Amino acid sequence: MSKILKWAGLALLAALVIIQFFGIDKTNPPVNQSEEFMTLAAPPADVAQLIKDACYDCHSHETKYPWYTNIEPVSWWIKDHIEHGREHLNFSAWGAYDAEKKAHKAEECGEEVEKGKMPLKSYLPMHPEARLSDAQRERLSSWFMALAAKKEAAEQVQPPAEASSGEEEEHSHGEGEENHDHEH
Ligand code: HEC
Repeated sequence: MSKILKWAGLALLAALVIIQFFGIDKTNPPVNQSEEFMTLAAPPADVAQLIKDACYDCHSHETKYPWYTNIEPVSWWIKDHIEHGREHLNFSAWGAYDAEKKAHKAEECGEEVEKGKMPLKSYLPMHPEARLSDAQRERLSSWFMALAAKKEAAEQVQPPAEASSGEEEEHSHGEGEENHDHEH
């Protein structure tokens, strides 16, 4: 029995050593300032700081890779978050979103932050700067909501049905069931 355990332990150790050769690619894609969220949406300094601290590692091309991203398989798990994060929302490519999508993404940001779903909980232990206080959460989510409202008004985003009830909430948000705008 103990012999089996010893071999199993050695095999595990060997596997851990071998996977260290399969590190992740940490090159950030280039950032074009004219396409960048901070340039285009120009948040006030305190909001900009919160977004940079709490969102940019996963939702931009300005990801910082701490020492533990050198350790496999932890790094694979982190890389997965970055890839998915950028896919869903990329502040470095904000300029590529049309007006409607910008408004929609801003609204989602407001909601995710308000509900405490973003930043991801698993991110917080290693990133104290991303732990939002209640006041910061409120500040950030209401700023995003205001951005969404401003964009919708400014760009004349048409509600799908022309039948105008005074109610302009045309889509069902907040149920977690979103069925549009998810490109993969
Ligand atoms: C540790 C990585 C990480 C951090 C930090 C993070 N996110 Fe995310 N975010 C993700 C991932 C991964 C997804 C993909 C969907 C999921 O897993 O929930 C996502 C999804 C989203 C979505 C949904 C987009 C869609 O199309 O459905 C929004 C909005 C969002 N994040 C906003 C934010 C905001 C705002 C912040 C900062 C306050 C933030 N995120 C911080 C990883 C992160």
